Order: sequence, then C-alpha cells, then structure tokens
Amino acid sequence: MGGSMHMIEESLKLAYGEDSEFIKDKRIAAVQALSGTGACRLFADFQKRFLPDSQIYIPTPTWSNHHNIWRDAQVPQRTFSYYHPESRGLDFAGLMDDIKNAPNGSFFLLHACAHNPTGVDPTEEQWREISYQFKLKNHFPFFDMAYQGFASGDPERDAKAIRIFLEDGHQIGCAQSYAKNMGLYGQRAGCLRE
Ligand SMILES: Cc1ncc(COP(=O)(O)O)c(C=O)c1O
Repeated sequence: MGGSMHMIEESLKLAYGEDSEFIKDKRIAAVQALSGTGACRLFADFQKRFLPDSQIYIPTPTWSNHHNIWRDAQVPQRTFSYYHPESRGLDFAGLMDDIKNAPNGSFFLLHACAHNPTGVDPTEEQWREISYQFKLKNHFPFFDMAYQGFASGDPERDAKAIRIFLEDGHQIGCAQSYAKNMGLYGQRAGCLRE
C-alpha cells in the first residue's frame, strides 16, 4: 500500500544523503505518491486529520496549485513574504518578519530549491537563519522539492536546505517529485516523507 519500497529507500537517500543517520535509525515515515502534487495533497490531508485547527503559511507567490491543494484539504491558508519585485530577489526581511509574527507552531510550506515561479532561493546562510527562527518559534517546515538538481545542477547541493533543517533537529515533511529531474512527468512518480 505504501508503494515501491526500493523507490522509497532511494528517494530517502536522495533527499537526506546516502549516510543519513535518520535513514539508518529508521526515523522517517515515507510513502510513494502520485508525483509531487499527490505528495503535497497527502500531506495536506494528514495535516487536516491530525491537526484539524492548524493553518498553512504559503509563500507569495507560489506554484498556483499549492492554493488548490490546501483549499481542497480544507486547511486555512495564510501567506508569507517571499519575492521582492524591485530587486528581483528574496524579500528576506519580510520573510523573517512573517516567520516571527506567525503563531508558534505554525506550518510553513517552503520550496526546497528552484522556487516556482520565481527561481529565487535563500542562500545557505539565509536558510540557516530561517531554520534558527523556526526552532525558536517551533514552526513545522514542509518542503516541496519538485526540482532537486535543477537549481545548481547538483542534487546534493540542492538538498542543502533540508539537510540544514535536519542538522538543527527539526522534524520535517517533504514532498519529492521526479516529474522534471527524472523526466517522469506522465508516470506520476513521487514520494512523501515525515
Ligand atoms: C513547486 C512545485 N511543486 C510541485 C509540483 C508538482 O509536480 P508533479 O505533480 O508534476 O510532480 C510542481 C510542478 O510544477 C511544482 O512546480
């Protein structure tokens, strides 16, 4: 029912790293999903079922389907600052303010790399600051990783944000899609982990 175990094991290694302690200690629950869309949807349903009063913070802008997915799962949505049109870069100050001002223990949807539609990602240093602030606020990071390998050309480097959060001791959720990086658009191959 969980899908192909082999595919799931390889997915975990791709996101967490070959030598991840989390994999060795079997601390990750994962299922195969209908590509990235299906993985997001399963997570949204999971969130609604187990934390029915929670809401999700979604970046402005974001892949438009994020709004549809969490709306269909009946999870209320809030937005957080992300893109700064004047500089065509990250609105880091606005993003940090929104993280600080969200109620403790909020769910945030973060694009792991190659943010869609802007292509703007935090630097490694900024991810570290974001992770630190999440820790202080006890927020839950849900990473949507639809483009691992596309931002830098190196799947390991593109997983940096996730690895930073793991190093900092966060419990995370992650949707993986193989539509673009493996060219499996029609096959709907994806994975959801927590
Ligand atoms: C940010 C983001 N997440 C998830 C997806 C879902 O992709 P798929 O369901 O095709 O794997 C996409 C596709 O465009 C995307 O851009």
